[in-house]
Amino acid sequence: MPTHIRTMHEDDAEAVSKLIRRSFQQCIADTYTERGIKHFMKITSKQAMLRRKRKNQLILVAESDAAIAGLVAVRNGNHLNLLFVAPEFHRRGIGTLLFQDALARMKTAIPDLSVVTVNSSAYALPFYTKLGFRAKSSAYFRKGMKITPMELLL
Ligand SMILES: CC(C)(COP(=O)(O)OP(=O)(O)OC[C@H]1O[C@@H](n2cnc3c(N)ncnc32)[C@H](O)[C@@H]1OP(=O)(O)O)[C@@H](O)C(=O)NCCC(=O)NCCS
Repeated sequence: MPTHIRTMHEDDAEAVSKLIRRSFQQCIADTYTERGIKHFMKITSKQAMLRRKRKNQLILVAESDAAIAGLVAVRNGNHLNLLFVAPEFHRRGIGTLLFQDALARMKTAIPDLSVVTVNSSAYALPFYTKLGFRAKSSAYFRKGMKITPMELLL
């Protein structure tokens, strides 16, 4: 089924928050501490997604058969802040599609863009490695969240 990428609308916020949390519970939660899980829930609530949108953060959703299948959010022009695909849609190229669309928009906004960064979950390391990202350090805990800082040099 074809996948369409578009910007997130305010009335997508609830569905997007639920999708992120479902994917998080299945793939990431067991690598975070209790504090990390609490913090993650706070920054991905419906209200938090609306605040991001109202601050003009770039948030794209992937729509497949009229359902939201994934999303990517970009902070500060070149940092992948959230990239989540619903578990039932994994390994169908949707994460790659979201990244490619976000990258094209980042390059339009900053024509001499030279680097894209992300704090990868343990789960997403092979995904970002496949896209060409390299780890800048080994994994560590920040606010209870296990992350590996990575960068893609353009
Ligand atoms: C990481 C994530 C966004 C990838 O989305 P996706 O749509 O499944 O990724 P794609 O189908 O585009 O995968 C592209 C390639 O990445 C690699 N890859 C993706 N998921 C992988 C996995 N679980 N294990 C190993 N390699 C993986 C593969 O090389 C894959 O190509 P292939 O399927 O042809 O072998 C998705 O797994 C997800 O939402 N994970 C949970 C949330 C998360 O960790 N997000 C990142 C937060 S920083």
